[in-house]
Amino acid sequence: LRGRSLSVTSLGGLPQWQVEELPVEELLLFEVAWEVTNKVGGIYTVIQTKAKTTADEWGDNYFLIGPYFEHNMKTQVEQCEPVNDAVRRAVDAMNKHGCQVHFGRWLIEGSPYVVLFDIGYSAWNLDRWKGDLWEACSVGIPYHDREANDMLIFGSLTAWFLKEVTDHADGKHVIAQFHEWQAGIGLILSRARKLPIATIFTTHATLLGRYLCAANIDFYNHLDKFNIDKEAGERQIYHRYCMERASVHCAHVFTTVSEITAIEAEHMLKRKPDVVTPNGLNVKKFSAVHEFQNLHAMYKARIQDFVRGHFYGKCLSFQPLCTLTEFALFLFIAGRYEFSNKGADIFLESLSRLNFLLRMHKSEVTVVVFFIMPAKTNNFNVETLKGQAVRKQLWDIAHSVKEKFGKKLYDALLRGEIPDMNNILDRDDITIMKRAIFSTQRQSLPPVTTHNMIDDSTDPILSTIRRIGLFNNRTDRVKVILHPEFLSSTSPLLPMDYEEFVRGCHLGVFPSYYEPWGYTPAECTVMGIPSVTTNLSGFGCFMQEHVADPTAYGIYIVDRRFRSPDDSCNQLTQFLYGFCKQSRRQRIIQRNRTERLSDLLDWRYLGRYYQHARHLTLSRAFPDKFHVELTSPPTTEGFKYPRPSSVPPSPSGSQASSPQSSDVEDEVEDERYDEEEEAERDRLNIKSPFSLSRVPHGKK
Ligand code: UDP
Ligand code: G6P
Ligand code: GLC
Repeated sequence: LRGRSLSVTSLGGLPQWQVEELPVEELLLFEVAWEVTNKVGGIYTVIQTKAKTTADEWGDNYFLIGPYFEHNMKTQVEQCEPVNDAVRRAVDAMNKHGCQVHFGRWLIEGSPYVVLFDIGYSAWNLDRWKGDLWEACSVGIPYHDREANDMLIFGSLTAWFLKEVTDHADGKHVIAQFHEWQAGIGLILSRARKLPIATIFTTHATLLGRYLCAANIDFYNHLDKFNIDKEAGERQIYHRYCMERASVHCAHVFTTVSEITAIEAEHMLKRKPDVVTPNGLNVKKFSAVHEFQNLHAMYKARIQDFVRGHFYGKCLSFQPLCTLTEFALFLFIAGRYEFSNKGADIFLESLSRLNFLLRMHKSEVTVVVFFIMPAKTNNFNVETLKGQAVRKQLWDIAHSVKEKFGKKLYDALLRGEIPDMNNILDRDDITIMKRAIFSTQRQSLPPVTTHNMIDDSTDPILSTIRRIGLFNNRTDRVKVILHPEFLSSTSPLLPMDYEEFVRGCHLGVFPSYYEPWGYTPAECTVMGIPSVTTNLSGFGCFMQEHVADPTAYGIYIVDRRFRSPDDSCNQLTQFLYGFCKQSRRQRIIQRNRTERLSDLLDWRYLGRYYQHARHLTLSRAFPDKFHVELTSPPTTEGFKYPRPSSVPPSPSGSQASSPQSSDVEDEVEDERYDEEEEAERDRLNIKSPFSLSRVPHGKK
């Protein structure tokens, strides 16, 4: 391997590892994904957060390829001319032949170059390209599958572009990494046309895995028993599955994002991944260690404001609103709306049990739970908007009365008098205030959703809420708010972006059943916010492997693998209940610990798996020129974050026990609560409301 040298790298307290340096000046690296500049879910996060470390290593020889959408281009990309000769010629050649290829710098950290193809503009080639695909691998795409047809156009343009690049690469070797089945056709066609490129295919999930899990099948216990062709056919995704499987088998190197998805891929795609590339984040450390705690307090105040508006009115809301500020905990679940895959089903069931426990134990805590999952809506509902308007009106009135009061007080003091407090406000002020209080009376309960849902009657979250009766009654200790739209700082209702919102919450809850990685809990971790994950998610398994006592660090891992759904639900309830019992001081300590795990999730650390995959593909595609010294990526074998000491870091004389030591107490106490709950249920003759089950395969 020309120019190769070994260097040793380390980060924070993590073990050192060796890196084989590639002669990047003699190489070109392309990464292809449908989510380049185009946010859909976690793949966007992979590409966007990794850009900085990859650009640092590859400089101007790194390019991302994705689809062109006018809005994305306008808001995220600065158009420019390619400096690289091969890329410039490729863009020019395609534009000359009836395509629209845009080039620029993506305005994110690392500002990588992007090549964006206008899919609609090239749609007239569709039939010809269907023929090409058929020639290459005998896969046909039905006309009605719009998405798959778009992917065919995207893939055909990618392969065309790579052909032009390799024709003019001037001795440079090309690596192309394709993410997910949507980008796979570019790979299949490049290989069928024998382009001289080293290829990597990365899957972030398998199509069948996602579909089968969503159908509530006991997936992980039947991995080797599925007739996958038949399953794909029955679900009408046979052609997509063929595209995915062909991409996997065409690639020089096949990678996936977690060990659990590696096992799944072996069964669903019939190839064992060569490298597992865990997902990282672009971790930014604050200069002051406690800055993230301050941010929590700041953004929590913004969420509190929203909550005050949503639950306005003293008759039907929960405790007086002032105590809400003190005792409310904000929990949330967020992500694409896959009801059971993302674990919204067991979360709701657990909330119903938590509500019961908090009421039974007369807890002072109120839990406000946000569901941030996009669904079809007709905009915000009137009741929700009214809540915020009422809150604003009260704020304005309080403010103007305060001004008047202050002025009169000041004048009196100037005169050397203490004003008569009974007369400091005049009759009109009192009337205005009374009117304002009257306007806060409401005849209905605070709404469980912020938007008018198009499929209100069949929506799975709303249907479950109706079944378990979590209607935001005054007596409910658990309140729910479904916000069926991703968050945005320009929203007139809750003007916060997702990161700000996460920082302001107390706990992220992601009890997924199907989750190849799961960025949402990882993002919580680097922001110092505790979260719930599962041992079926890539992230949860990764944490279990590398952290001796994840719970003590604020990573609660629900066992969804070896327990029944009902037991998992109980475990989740206990996690939530234990969390609610923590004191503020314990939460602060726990957040500090959570944030300490950030280094483990930093691309500067995890990026080496991608580096290894690139070495491997070069050695397989061009064995005469490249070989790999390290056949497997250097591992962190045996490395674990140790248990945190049970003594709270400061102040040393404090009475409060640390989350870990209280966990032990909680476990003992929780057993007691279990028995009490059982007895109470028997007394009231309440049947367990839980009705979830994963049906054994074939018995749907
Ligand atoms: N996300 C977001 N806005 C929201 C909620 C979620 O941008 O209001 C992002 C979140 O930051 C995360 C991604 O959506 O990076 C979801 O990724 P994940 O890997 O958890 O799940 P996926 O959707 O890929 O299955
Ligand atoms: C941060 C702030 C503290 C604040 C605390 C609230 O740690 O630095 O000033 O008291 O958050 O924590 P809580 O868990 O109650 O939101
Ligand atoms: C997929 C998976 C998700 C993962 C993401 C990024 O969308 O569903 O679990 O985090 O890809 O790899």
